[in-house]
Amino acid sequence: MSTSTNCPDFVSTATKVPPSVAVIFGATGDLTHRKIVPAFYHLQKNGHLPEGFAIIGFARRPKTDAEFRKDLKEALDKFSHTKPVDEKVWKELEQHIYYQQGDLPNVEDYKKLGERIKSLPEAKIFGENALYYLATAPEFFGPVAMNLAAAGLAQKKGANHLRRLIVEKPFGIDLASAQKLNEEIQHAFPESSIYRIDHYLGKETVQNLLYFRFGNSIYEPLWDHKYIDHVQITVAETVSVEGRGGYYDEAGAVRDMLQNHMMQLFSLIAMEPPAVLDAESIRDEKVKVLRAVATPKPDYILANSVRAQYGAGILNGKQIPAYRQEDRVKPNSLTETYVALKLEIDNWRWSGVPFYLRTGKALAKQFTEINIVFRRPPGALFAGAANRIYRNRLRIRIQPNEGIHLHFNTKTPSQPTLQTVGMDFSYRQDTAHYFPEAYERLICDALLGESTLFTRSDEVEQSWRIIDAFKDAWKNQETDYIPLYAPGSMGPVEGDEMLRRDGRSWASLTND
Ligand code: BG6
Repeated sequence: MSTSTNCPDFVSTATKVPPSVAVIFGATGDLTHRKIVPAFYHLQKNGHLPEGFAIIGFARRPKTDAEFRKDLKEALDKFSHTKPVDEKVWKELEQHIYYQQGDLPNVEDYKKLGERIKSLPEAKIFGENALYYLATAPEFFGPVAMNLAAAGLAQKKGANHLRRLIVEKPFGIDLASAQKLNEEIQHAFPESSIYRIDHYLGKETVQNLLYFRFGNSIYEPLWDHKYIDHVQITVAETVSVEGRGGYYDEAGAVRDMLQNHMMQLFSLIAMEPPAVLDAESIRDEKVKVLRAVATPKPDYILANSVRAQYGAGILNGKQIPAYRQEDRVKPNSLTETYVALKLEIDNWRWSGVPFYLRTGKALAKQFTEINIVFRRPPGALFAGAANRIYRNRLRIRIQPNEGIHLHFNTKTPSQPTLQTVGMDFSYRQDTAHYFPEAYERLICDALLGESTLFTRSDEVEQSWRIIDAFKDAWKNQETDYIPLYAPGSMGPVEGDEMLRRDGRSWASLTND
């Protein structure tokens, strides 16, 4: 997925991004503290930020530059993925960090922002280059983009100038709102300058899906309905909603995880090989495979999906409240914290191969993995064997313990039976390589104008088309009931039954 302009190696080759100002909207928020500032710090540490690079935080609360820098340093000490924080690197970076107080809906404040940008000492070097990062509440994404345009900050002043917009998730709450948001931001910035973030695409192991599929000749010939029985994609989290009740009760697992991160994994696993490894060719293929998922009918959806919510119980040795008792969650909420469903792709490669996707919070184990489960070989040869023939399975571990594991059958020594054994590759065994955090990679790519790892407008809309069908079918079901599951379990029994009805089961958690 890399092209020559990507930040290719976070250890040695210091690819410098162009001098620029990065304006963070929502600068006092959680995302800025947890992800964005640690990412800039690591880009500085690894030599990717050039002379003349500046960062401005824009938010409502009054604050001095010094106060803002102090807050960011505290957050960095807490959230940096490498510790301890290198004080020298931070000092180098912080002198280029500024704070601008302003109201998101007020266009006058954007004009003041424009003046402030011009007045920065670094402006002599970065000139007109700007990257705007929308890390605000989602309802402000469209208004901020339009206010930037109204204040003359979105338009390029010359062909070589860089005016880019990073938009966080969630991108809309359904197809109609995503289309409206696309219209608003495209009114202010051309599509080629818009970078919609899905941080899963910045993960090394997610990028590896394409390298692994198309960089080997031994898997791709097997990658279709002739050899694959079904595919499982699991994103399991042990965390509960912990303080994010207000947001989560509106979003649920479907909007929070399924529409974006899981649909990305789905399209990367299922897409056709692109003609070349560039942004448009890869994104064209991802859109094509989403388009090949026919909008499912309500009867199909109700028979092939499960939603559930965690009740009260013990999680990691601690008592946790039921989801409905979480702060800012409605006491009779029907929002799902777990969802499992089946998708089918109507094309030559995948016809008849189900894809089972599941995600949930407060589950037994934190892991993201994709299991490619192959067809069983004909059984006649081993009909007399005491055990059954297990299906071959390729387990792609996205996180943690990143790796790839192939499960296959061999003879059990000294017995006339089959046993399942494994070949294991662990990413972390190669300690010479630095593992950048997803946000480091994505911010660096946006600054370099490399959009492969960002979602295109049609991709987001195709994904919502499928998800909306599920949401509508559930809504029309008019039930006031949602199954509960125990925290620390792997979800409700209904999730297991969904696969059992198809003669399958979720891959076991052994060999972790
Ligand atoms: C975010 C969701 O997008 O992804 C969170 O809003 C979720 O609810 C998180 O916990 C998971 O990301 P990761 O990188 O920890 O798997």
